[in-house]
Amino acid sequence: MSTYLRLRLPGALMLTAGALAATESAASAIGAGPAHHLPIFGDVYSPLDGIRWLSALNGHCVIQPWQQHTLLHRAVTHRCATHPSVILAINAKAAALFAAGFVPFAGLRLVEVAVNAQTKKGRSFAALRSVEGAPPPLVIEIGRATGELNKLGHAAGIRKGQRVRLVGPDVSQDTLALGGKGAGKTLWINSVLLQTLQQDCGALVFNVKGDYDGTALELARRAGRKVRVIGFGEGAEKINLNNGISPEMGAAYMSALLLLAGGQDKGAMFWNQTGANLTRGVLGLLQCFPYRYSFPGLYRYLFVKAERAEVDARIAELLTKWREAAKSATGERRAAIVEQITYIEGCILEVANFHEQTHDIQSGTRTHLSMILSKTVVPEVENAFFLPDEGDGKPFRFESLYEDGDVFVINCPLQEYGLSAAAIMAFAKLQFYAAMEKRRIRKDVNRTRRVGLFIDECQEITTCSREGMSDHTALAKSRDTGMFSVWATQSMSALTAKLGDEMAAALVANLRNRIVFRSENKRTIEDVLYLLGQIEFDRKSTSETRQPGSWFKSKGETHAPQLQAVANPALFRSLRASHALALLSIDNESADDVLKMAQVFV
Ligand SMILES: Nc1ncnc2c1ncn2[C@@H]1O[C@H](COP(=O)(O)OP(=O)(O)OP(=O)(O)O)[C@@H](O)[C@H]1O
Ligand SMILES: [Mg+2]
Repeated sequence: MSTYLRLRLPGALMLTAGALAATESAASAIGAGPAHHLPIFGDVYSPLDGIRWLSALNGHCVIQPWQQHTLLHRAVTHRCATHPSVILAINAKAAALFAAGFVPFAGLRLVEVAVNAQTKKGRSFAALRSVEGAPPPLVIEIGRATGELNKLGHAAGIRKGQRVRLVGPDVSQDTLALGGKGAGKTLWINSVLLQTLQQDCGALVFNVKGDYDGTALELARRAGRKVRVIGFGEGAEKINLNNGISPEMGAAYMSALLLLAGGQDKGAMFWNQTGANLTRGVLGLLQCFPYRYSFPGLYRYLFVKAERAEVDARIAELLTKWREAAKSATGERRAAIVEQITYIEGCILEVANFHEQTHDIQSGTRTHLSMILSKTVVPEVENAFFLPDEGDGKPFRFESLYEDGDVFVINCPLQEYGLSAAAIMAFAKLQFYAAMEKRRIRKDVNRTRRVGLFIDECQEITTCSREGMSDHTALAKSRDTGMFSVWATQSMSALTAKLGDEMAAALVANLRNRIVFRSENKRTIEDVLYLLGQIEFDRKSTSETRQPGSWFKSKGETHAPQLQAVANPALFRSLRASHALALLSIDNESADDVLKMAQVFV
């Protein structure tokens, strides 16, 4: 028998005794049946009298006035004929018996609290909902605990049957789902997205695999929400990703995007640096011509000679004009013109520095930049993501995710546009982080609505660099920006192959909730086993010896504490479909178990 049942049984017996005592007090109130006289308690009725009295109660008692109902009428007459002190004594006894009847309730609650303290219970929704004045917290149900780790003695195990929910700030701990093909990641993400849409949240969904836009639309329909599809697809909105980005930010984004192409090794870092510097210089020049100020504009400047010649000639003209103007201007106006001239001269110098590099460095940098930029000039891509002027209707802004609770699906087919599509989505993600960062700093924007970020096959568009803005730095602030995110990939190896060991570790360190579906990937399994740690168990060995010539055996028993891993790799291979091992952070404490995951089929 489990500890829980052992503790619960006496409680249940007490509850029954209390209930019988309460019926007895009811019987004593009307003087039903023969009383047994006891020296201190006075007239005592058997519990059977109480049950008989209760069974005589029926619907008529409620409908008929008490004068007309025989039983209640008898109770009142009995009371009226009795001396007030006797009534007082009977009432006091009844109250005491009722109280005794409720003791088991309290007892059971205490037992539950004790058991839950041992087994880590997730916080309940109701408890948090009752915070006065505050909006209801976001609640995401992850799944239902099987109690398997608890059974194995894991200190952070969860009680079997517990509905595991992330509530409020726990959701912002961000979640990484790992698992092999067809293990159930997407079905689970569907469930989280649906729950997000059913609550008053914004959502940004990256359709990395190319088949998720239909699913997102269907989930939004079920939740009664509208989705704005951005980029490709029927009725999709066209946007300008370069909108509102300074050349410095453009360079920082380019550095992050180059990581997608070149990885994290030292050689690649060199190209990233030179590529980012060149981007800063050229974007600075292109700023003078708004219709050219975009990544496709950058591409044309770098790779189309005629375009570069035209921009350079027009910049020279502008500089001459500004220098003339500075001569005749005075005060603040003159200072502004001089500042503009100095800035553009700085950009020209940056571009000139690049052209002084060796031929190999120049062509290496161009090749790397071209990996990101080449497909941005494909007319459909340029039209979808780098529209010079904002399109008709509502201009696109990531801020509307938290201001209006919008739901965006970013659609850019990876299979068709490869690395450029990945770069465009990563770029959009960085823009989203910038909008969320603005919310963190500014006080005059909506600061309560949460925004969910959903990225299945995240290894394709993840950018982590030591400098500037990238995924792990944005995730580190997610609690403050009111963002929460769900990332999914097939394995830790898929992530490390893209990001390198160090940066993959930096990313997952910020994804505090880890959910591992069926997996055969060694790296994934080792990682989780390491997190689960070991438990100490008592190894008992018995021995029997018989002395020569003796009839009796002497028995010996030795105990030795030993360490053993909480789980073993077989656990991951044997996980049933729809089950996953969840390592969660609930209320800043670890809570781990094999869960039957919430799933939504579309
Ligand atoms: N609408 C559906 N109806 C029935 N079964 C489905 C449906 N969608 C998915 N499945 C099945 O459920 C299982 C889990 O699918 P899911 O798409 O969640 O896997 P996944 O982990 O995302 O895999 P992948 O890495 O290939 O994307 C698969 O066996 C799949 O065939
Ligand atoms: Mg999937």
